[in-house]
Amino acid sequence: MITGTTVSRAFPLGSRLNERGVLEVGGCDTLELAREFGTPAYVVAEDDLRARARAFLGAARASGRADVQIVFASKAFPCTAVLALFAAEGLWCDAASGGELHLALAAGFAPERIVLHGNAKSEAELRMALRHRVGTIVIDNFDEIERLRTLIADGVLADRGAEGQPVLLRVTPDVRGDTHEKISTGQADSKFGFSMEAAAAAIERVGEIPGLALHGLHAHIGSQLLELDPFTRAARQLAGLGDFPVLDIGGGLGVQYTEDQPAPPSIEDYVGALVGGVAAGGLPAASRLLIEPGRALCANAAVTLYTVESVKQNVSRWVAVDGGMSDNLRPMLYGARYEAELVDRFGGSTECRLAGKHCESGDVIVAQARLEDPRPGDVVVTPVTGAYGYAMANNYNGVPRPPVIFCREGEARVVVRRESFEDLTARDVG
Ligand code: LLP
Repeated sequence: MITGTTVSRAFPLGSRLNERGVLEVGGCDTLELAREFGTPAYVVAEDDLRARARAFLGAARASGRADVQIVFASKAFPCTAVLALFAAEGLWCDAASGGELHLALAAGFAPERIVLHGNAKSEAELRMALRHRVGTIVIDNFDEIERLRTLIADGVLADRGAEGQPVLLRVTPDVRGDTHEKISTGQADSKFGFSMEAAAAAIERVGEIPGLALHGLHAHIGSQLLELDPFTRAARQLAGLGDFPVLDIGGGLGVQYTEDQPAPPSIEDYVGALVGGVAAGGLPAASRLLIEPGRALCANAAVTLYTVESVKQNVSRWVAVDGGMSDNLRPMLYGARYEAELVDRFGGSTECRLAGKHCESGDVIVAQARLEDPRPGDVVVTPVTGAYGYAMANNYNGVPRPPVIFCREGEARVVVRRESFEDLTARDVG
């Protein structure tokens, strides 16, 4: 896994082992970070986030299409500092609830650059989106169309003049990619969007409602996809449904979690495949293409630091750390695989199970880890926790959620503080 002072490709860009053999992320010594800020902690290499945003924007510019926008799927890392960084880089933002919309606005995204999603949007969420004049609402179902009609009839758009609310319709293109069934969304029997059969009726109904301006269609076929073909097929199919000024092809590009996993397509090839797909489907050259990456923008930018609390031999060697399924649900939910290392002794050979501190046998972060003679007090790192780690963190067993620490050129700053025990009782009212 180690070659000289470099580390596996799963780690944030610029990560290395320093002269003392300790992992550095964003130029910061991770052993010192653990001492200063405590563990568990999400450590983010700020330059990695920026580099991936710029890679997407560069690929969009180089694609040959005039109008390709990169929309960060904020659910992947809904942290204000991350959102603010992407807003400053010129990305747009996908919000999938009123809460994510609140975060996007707080982080400084211009409302016209926000795309609101959701298969069960409430009246309050739709009202909030209309009031803030979000650029795009992606309509998921007929009930939502009627909810929007009622709100508009009630005068929510009164101060807008003739200008209607731009909307897209989400469709399920029946294109399946190879991924975990829990994060596959393109199949015909999906809870998301209109079936292909219903799409024409939905288009007609939206057209009857003054105040709604149908700009185009949306599809998102799934997440952590490592092949380009399903993306190309979905893009071609979506573009073939009619000449629209906007198409939104969703997100889903997979990332490298472990060295032995096949490498994901590059950002350039991914954007190229989508652009090629919509061109093959006949999307007019002047139409806008929206792409909604989440994971590919932020997963590899962060690592989680833990401290070993106990080591025991019960058939297997069990190494238990101070976090687990409260800061990373992915192993438990999807059987997701991660790598682990001791930050100051990379490349170990002691086979062990890296377990969390929660009261369930399934709370195992890495089922087959190789660590160098792990002992209590050692600091463990798991890379690729930037996407859907913080996002799905929880307080199971009353464990406070970890802080988020941004690192850049050797400087570390806390952008989200660690939760306290007081936070756990802060919402009690009686
Ligand atoms: N657009 C829409 C409409 C989505 O539903 C999603 C993800 C994305 C974009 C971004 O997909 P990405 O580029 O991140 O693959 N919790 C799961 C992932 C769920 C993804 C849900 N939707 C996990 O930890 O793997």
